[in-house]
Amino acid sequence: IPVEPFDLVIFGGTGDLARRKILPALFRRFCAGQMPHEARIIGAARSRHGADEYKATVRAAIVEFVGGNEAQSDALEGFVDRIDYVTVDARGTDGWAELAGKMRDGCVRAFYFSVAPALFGDLAERIHHHGIATEQSRIVVEKPFGNDLATARALNDTLAEHFDEGQIYRIDHYLGKETVQNLMAIRFGNMLFEPLWNSQYVDHIQITVAETVGVGGRGEYYDKAGAMRDMMQNHLMQLLCLIAMEPPAKFDPDAVRDEKLKVIRALDAVEPHHIVRGQYQALDGEHPGYREAAGNPRSSTESYIALKAHISNWRWAGTPFYLRTGKRLVARSSVISVVFKDAPHSIFGAEAGRHANVLSIRLQPNEGITLQVTIKEPGPGGMRLVDVPLDMTFAEALGPEGGDPPDAYERLIMDVIRGNQTLFMRGDEVEAAWAWADPMIAGWTARGEVPKPYESGSVGPDHAEQLLRRDGRAWRGIK
Ligand code: BG6
Repeated sequence: IPVEPFDLVIFGGTGDLARRKILPALFRRFCAGQMPHEARIIGAARSRHGADEYKATVRAAIVEFVGGNEAQSDALEGFVDRIDYVTVDARGTDGWAELAGKMRDGCVRAFYFSVAPALFGDLAERIHHHGIATEQSRIVVEKPFGNDLATARALNDTLAEHFDEGQIYRIDHYLGKETVQNLMAIRFGNMLFEPLWNSQYVDHIQITVAETVGVGGRGEYYDKAGAMRDMMQNHLMQLLCLIAMEPPAKFDPDAVRDEKLKVIRALDAVEPHHIVRGQYQALDGEHPGYREAAGNPRSSTESYIALKAHISNWRWAGTPFYLRTGKRLVARSSVISVVFKDAPHSIFGAEAGRHANVLSIRLQPNEGITLQVTIKEPGPGGMRLVDVPLDMTFAEALGPEGGDPPDAYERLIMDVIRGNQTLFMRGDEVEAAWAWADPMIAGWTARGEVPKPYESGSVGPDHAEQLLRRDGRAWRGIK
C-alpha cells in the first residue's frame, strides 16, 4: 500500500549513510510500489551540485549497494525522477530560501539529519526559522545520540526547542530488523512462552551480537566510542528491553516505549568485575589489529564487551542477563537465548544428566528459532535423555520473503512517513540508557583499565568465558 505523498529532505544527502542505506532503502520501497507518484527526495548538503549531478550520485549508489537486475531496470530511472538537490549551508544562510521554495503543501515533510550531531541544532533552528517545517513535519536523527547522558540531554533540549517529541524519530536500526520486531510477536502472540517468562522458570538470558568485521575505515569515530557506546548502550539495550519488558497494553508507540523505559530504569548498576572489555589483535599479518585499524597505537578503547546485568523488578529479580558484542569475532551471529531452569526433580535418576530447555532466537543470519527439548535417547539401553533442537528458519517457514527480510531502513523510513514512532527511541529512553552506561565507562576510565587482547577470528577474550563459568554457566556457541 503506498504511503502518503511526501517530501523527504536528506541532510548529508551525499554522505556514506545516505548512499549505503537511506537511498537504497528508498529505492527498494519504490520498487515495492510503496512510494506514491508525488513522493520526492531532496538531497541537501554543502557541496555544490546541480540536481543532475546528484541524480548521477544516487544512480551510482543504487548500482553499488542494491546491484542486480533491479538497479539496471527502468525502475531506477523512475526512482531518479523523484530526486532533487539543494546546496545548503547548515551553519549559514545559503540555500535555505531555495529549500523552503521546494516544499509542497499537502505533503508529509520529513527531514533526515544524516549529519554529525554537532549540526542538529543548526539544522533544527534553520528549518524552523525559514518556515520549512509544519506542525506535522518529522525529523529523523541517527545514532550516536550523544556520547553520554549530558550530551544526550543537551541534544534532546536542542531539538525540543523547535520540535515536539512526537515529531522526533531517533533511529536505532536494530528496531527495524524484521527479526527484532518478531521478538514482540513471539512473546506476545503466543500463549506458550509468557507464563514461563520470569525468574521462576528462566535461569538466565544471553544476548550475543557478534560481528566478523573490524572497525574498517571508521577508526576515528570508533576509537572515541568503543563497543559500549557503539553497540551496547543502544542496539543490545533495545534487545534487552524487548526480551524483558512487560506486555504493553497495545502495540502503540508510547505503550511500547513506556514498558521499555521501565526495564532500563530497573537495571542495577553493573559491578566492575561483571564487565569484560577486549580488543582484537592482528591476524597473521593479514588483518590489522584494532589499534592499527583505529590509528591509535595506545588505544584503550574496547572492540568487545561482555557484561552481566540484573533487572531489579518483580519479574526478573535473580535472573542474570549476559550481554556480549564484539568485532572481528569468529562468525557474524546475533542470537538471544533464553535458558530455562532444570526440571525440579529428575525421575530418571542422576545418570540421566541435567537438561534444560533453551529457546534461541536467531536475529541474523539464518533467521529463525530453535527450541531445545529433551527426549529419550533411542535404543534399548534404559532411560537415557538427550537434547534435540526443534528448529525453524523463517526462510523455510515463510518462503523467500521470510528468508530475505527487507532492510531495517526500509521499514523505518516508511514508518517516519506514516507517522508511526513505535520503532523509534524516545528521548527519555536514550537518556536512561546513558544513565546506565555512564558509570561503567567512568569506572574503567578512572581505574585506567586496558581491554584484554583477543585473537581476531576467536570468540573473544577468555575472561568473558570466565564471567559465566564462575556462575556455573557457559555461553552458547557463536557459530
Ligand atoms: C552500527 C554500528 O550501529 O551497527 C556498527 O555503528 C555495527 O559498528 C553495526 O557494525 C551493526 O549493524 P548490523 O545491522 O550489521 O548488525
